[in-house]
Amino acid sequence: TDLRAFARAMPKAELHLHLEGTLEPELKFALAARNGIALAEKTVEDVVASYDFTDLTSFLAVYYPAMTVLQTADDFHDLAWAYLQKAREQGVVHVEMFFDPQAHTSRGVPFADVIAGYRRAVVRAQDELGVSAELILCFLRDFTAEHAMSTLMEALPYRAWIIGVGLDSDERGNPPAKFAEVFARAKAEGFFTTMHCDIDQPGSIEHIRQVIEEIGVDRIDHGTNIVEDPALVAVARERGLGFTTCPVSNSFVTEEMKADEIVQLLREGVRVTVNSDDPAYFGGYVADNYIALAEHADLSAADLARLAINSFEAAWLTPARRAAYI
Ligand code: ADE
Ligand code: ZN
Repeated sequence: TDLRAFARAMPKAELHLHLEGTLEPELKFALAARNGIALAEKTVEDVVASYDFTDLTSFLAVYYPAMTVLQTADDFHDLAWAYLQKAREQGVVHVEMFFDPQAHTSRGVPFADVIAGYRRAVVRAQDELGVSAELILCFLRDFTAEHAMSTLMEALPYRAWIIGVGLDSDERGNPPAKFAEVFARAKAEGFFTTMHCDIDQPGSIEHIRQVIEEIGVDRIDHGTNIVEDPALVAVARERGLGFTTCPVSNSFVTEEMKADEIVQLLREGVRVTVNSDDPAYFGGYVADNYIALAEHADLSAADLARLAINSFEAAWLTPARRAAYI
């Protein structure tokens, strides 16, 4: 329909995208062959059949083992480059992409190789696609705070290539406050900050309170459980805090896409955005997420345009760059 074409063509920023979550089965096979790695799955169908997650934990149990095919700087480049070409087809003109260095350094891949490969794709996206791309270093919250701090120290020589830091992986028992010191240091070093507050986690609303009041993040990833606390919603609206929601992802790791919560925040004037999270696993790139939400919640073209404007307002752009997009 017209609305689908509009959702695709509309210029937008993507702000919640895990590069390691863009590993499509075909590329997984190609990298495995290049690196001489034997995979348990023999066909694309086998790989897709292994995607039977029902929650965050069962998703992560598939997501991390798949990364073993990523070994060299070229591999990281090829992964990011494949994503960036798809993103452009989805109307993305600016993207801030998460990467999980600890998922690679913990299996012996040097940090320098990870960032060199990703950086090469970032530069190439600007030159060849006209897509502006930035990297966000995400810490794994099920690792220790000390491991996060040493990863931050390892990243400092590359700080010109990293716009901000985030926090992802398994949230159970790993509250934002665990990383207060790491994030204070990251801020002091000039990084923007964001943290995942995944959907319906034990302690969700307390975690959202911590990221807003104690950590003082610039943005929240997911975070739609905030609707449970109207006073906190008011604070988020007043501060213009961005929320990076991921409707299709939600429908995999919970029982629904949480459209009611997303639309409620949109109607209340909170800076809510739509993103793809791990598109190779959840089967939808960013425009597909706008379309899924629009069709489920009966959104108008004006609503979709507002969501896209929000994406530029919540992006870590300079005022001059932002003004060029909106
Ligand atoms: N790592 C990759 N995707 C994630 C998500 N949606 N939540 C937490 N950690 C993740
Ligand atoms: Zn995520």
